[in-house]
Amino acid sequence: MAGTSDGAGARGASGALDGPGAPGAIVDGRPPRGSVPGGGAAAWVNRWRLTARAYEPLWRHRSVGLLTRGAFSTARELKALVAWTAPAAGAEVLDVGCSAGLYARTLAAAGANVHALDASRPFLVEAARLAARDGVSLSLVQGDAHALPFADDRFDAVVVGATLNELADPARALGEIARVLRPAGRAWFMYARRAGPLGRPLQALMGWGGLRFPAPDELDAWAGDAGLVPIQSEERGAVVLALYGLGRGAPDVAATSPSPGWEGPTPRRNRRFNWERRLDGEGEG
Ligand SMILES: C[S@@+](CC[C@H](N)C(=O)[O-])C[C@H]1O[C@@H](n2cnc3c(N)ncnc32)[C@H](O)[C@@H]1O
Repeated sequence: MAGTSDGAGARGASGALDGPGAPGAIVDGRPPRGSVPGGGAAAWVNRWRLTARAYEPLWRHRSVGLLTRGAFSTARELKALVAWTAPAAGAEVLDVGCSAGLYARTLAAAGANVHALDASRPFLVEAARLAARDGVSLSLVQGDAHALPFADDRFDAVVVGATLNELADPARALGEIARVLRPAGRAWFMYARRAGPLGRPLQALMGWGGLRFPAPDELDAWAGDAGLVPIQSEERGAVVLALYGLGRGAPDVAATSPSPGWEGPTPRRNRRFNWERRLDGEGEG
């Protein structure tokens, strides 16, 4: 069971968290009240224990398959996450808006030292439960993407899975992500993109709940303002995967889209569990 820490012993002189909490503990890294923009209805629903418990089994493992109409799967997304961020053993990785910790557990299993941050305490409790179930260790932090409680140049990679869609001020969060990245660090984003004319009314409706759907060039613009440059990206239906590096230290990686190995046939097992199927003509070229 996750405990709570007020951060005592985990904050350095600057006020930034500089050490992990006790195993399973949730360190309090929240900014002062009123200093960050609030979320909408989605943020409210994220505070329910039921949402946290149901999120991964009922939605997350199927979400990418549904949003890409079967052209892609969560299993492939996780494979790309590890391949693109390429964490070395012991690399310091931050998962922003970790929810129940799917990315965090995946990267911890790949050998990274993962800090999993979320605004919702019930989600962090669930992340602690699932990490214990899977035998991986995570540093859990309750905090806000708009004011990350970490020192500058702290992480080799920052990963953000769909949290961009829930942020009130994504440009500010990108500034924070660039700040905590080391010069050669990488930032990974998975998000649902702005729909075409048919899907816009639905997205406008979801906007009332605090959800936003950026176009890829909008994200590029926010990233550019934060000093992040695009390295690699892939679009599948409504889903975008994108990797950025800091302009000052990013390795010169040639864009490869689609990624090598992604065009192979989908294993039958994935089809069943991830709702993955190939769209006619999709990805054949
Ligand atoms: C769509 S879920 C993303 C889940 C997770 N990254 C994944 O890939 O499964 C969004 C998560 O971001 C969190 N969140 C929303 N706004 C946030 C903020 N301002 N700071 C930190 N976490 C936030 C929510 O509590 C929720 O757990």
